[in-house]
Amino acid sequence: MSTIPRRLVVAAAALTMLGSAAASAEAAPVKPKAVPYASVVPAPASATQASSTFTLASGARIAASGQAASVGDYLAGVLRPATGFALPVDKSFVAHAVDPIQLLIAPDASLGDEGYQLTVNAGSVVLTANKPAGLFEGVQTLRQLLPASIDANTTQPGPWTIQGGKITDHPRFAYRGAMLDVARHFFGVDTVKTYIDEIARYKVNTLHLHLTDDQGWRLQINSWPKLATYGGSTEVGGGAGGYYTQAQYKDIVAYAASRYITIIPEVDMPGHTNAALASYAELNCNGVAPPLYTGTDVGFSTLCVGKDVTYKFLDDVIGELAALTPGPYIHIGGDESKSTSDADYKTFVAKVQQIVANHGKTAIGWHDISKAALLPSTIGQYWDTTPTNASVQAAAKKGTHFILSPANLAYLDMKYTEQTPLGQDWAGLIEAKDAYSWDPGKYLTGVNSSQVNGVEGPLWTETIVRLADIQYMAFPRLAELAELGWSQAASHDWNTFKTRLAAQGPRWKAQGVNFYASPQVPWAK
Ligand code: ACM
Repeated sequence: MSTIPRRLVVAAAALTMLGSAAASAEAAPVKPKAVPYASVVPAPASATQASSTFTLASGARIAASGQAASVGDYLAGVLRPATGFALPVDKSFVAHAVDPIQLLIAPDASLGDEGYQLTVNAGSVVLTANKPAGLFEGVQTLRQLLPASIDANTTQPGPWTIQGGKITDHPRFAYRGAMLDVARHFFGVDTVKTYIDEIARYKVNTLHLHLTDDQGWRLQINSWPKLATYGGSTEVGGGAGGYYTQAQYKDIVAYAASRYITIIPEVDMPGHTNAALASYAELNCNGVAPPLYTGTDVGFSTLCVGKDVTYKFLDDVIGELAALTPGPYIHIGGDESKSTSDADYKTFVAKVQQIVANHGKTAIGWHDISKAALLPSTIGQYWDTTPTNASVQAAAKKGTHFILSPANLAYLDMKYTEQTPLGQDWAGLIEAKDAYSWDPGKYLTGVNSSQVNGVEGPLWTETIVRLADIQYMAFPRLAELAELGWSQAASHDWNTFKTRLAAQGPRWKAQGVNFYASPQVPWAK
């Protein structure tokens, strides 16, 4: 019997090949391989490559003054770990022309609030936008034009070369969201911040936090303290749960804002409220608090629609939430209220929308709310699995706008295949290609694309317990959804997209993101 395992033979052959490659590299210096513009996700509205290349030098400075300064600091911060360069940010107005990387606010109405223009020449990288948010989105593009090793958090060899050219970009939809259910399983501040950083790379601009459900209440409310201390004391499976103090919630909101992400807090009601009902007996129609719940059934709980204390409770909760939340939206849930009569449900939704409005915010609700009378400002979030829904169509006729999260296309907790160890399959399996194979502007029957605010990828966490689980379900699918939200409809093509998506694999590896390496994608090494 041969004593040499086959693995070693293959390794030896690979070493020989490496040796000959190194020899030829000595003979003719290899030009650094720059990342093609066609590998950016989401696809920019317009991109033209030139033959020149820019290489970031160790002494480079980043010019970013006035409104651009904080994005300049962010860019320097994300480039320092892998480059090992100091990358000082020059915030004076005079020296811009001599700094190789320049971030400039320059009025250009065609770019809108989040659009940007990126021009790369041999000697400079110039990013311009109307608003800091546009510079921030342009920075995400710039990061993807550097070699994947830029995403490592230890010093890498470089060289840090970027292909010359010009990109002009702006989003198709204003709303591009992710949702994290922190109620079924609780996730601490650091996990949420990591997820914020990961979604920001794909120009996602909202993070909807599903803060309350039957299994847990996850935000300190000073006027009703037992919601968090008792209602937040467990989770699915009986673990310890947890909740955000108001200071922690504000910290998340501020961190998200620094990444141009708006936090949308959800208090789900009138169903999905067992944690609140268990915390305060008076919120129950029979005056008896149920036990805490750690299972995964839905539809068994309801706030007592006929009691005045219910609206005092909601006014207090929404008042505190509105004061803590600078963004314009409060999500009122409204899904699967199977223990609330239709008449009660309609009464309840009407009252809650008004409470939200009284606190200066706009209500978003799962599309179930469209069977009630909606305020003109209220937005529906569509989560069903078929494109036709009579109440949704009727609400759209009256002008209601929608965010699209069809469960069989956009739910990040659905399994990729039957073998996926995490997640659920009640809405179907969603492989990489499925997640990309729909047009949010044309999906809903009877809803004009001008009434579609955008897309959101919800991640429900019945089976999700740690950051690595979140990453595995979100990537690649959230990057795909982000492209559907950002990129123009004309660029929609699976065959070119899958190659661009493939370029994200080495980036996720460099970042330590636990993604699903779908066999449908020709992952780059
Ligand atoms: C939902 O999935 N119940 C919104």
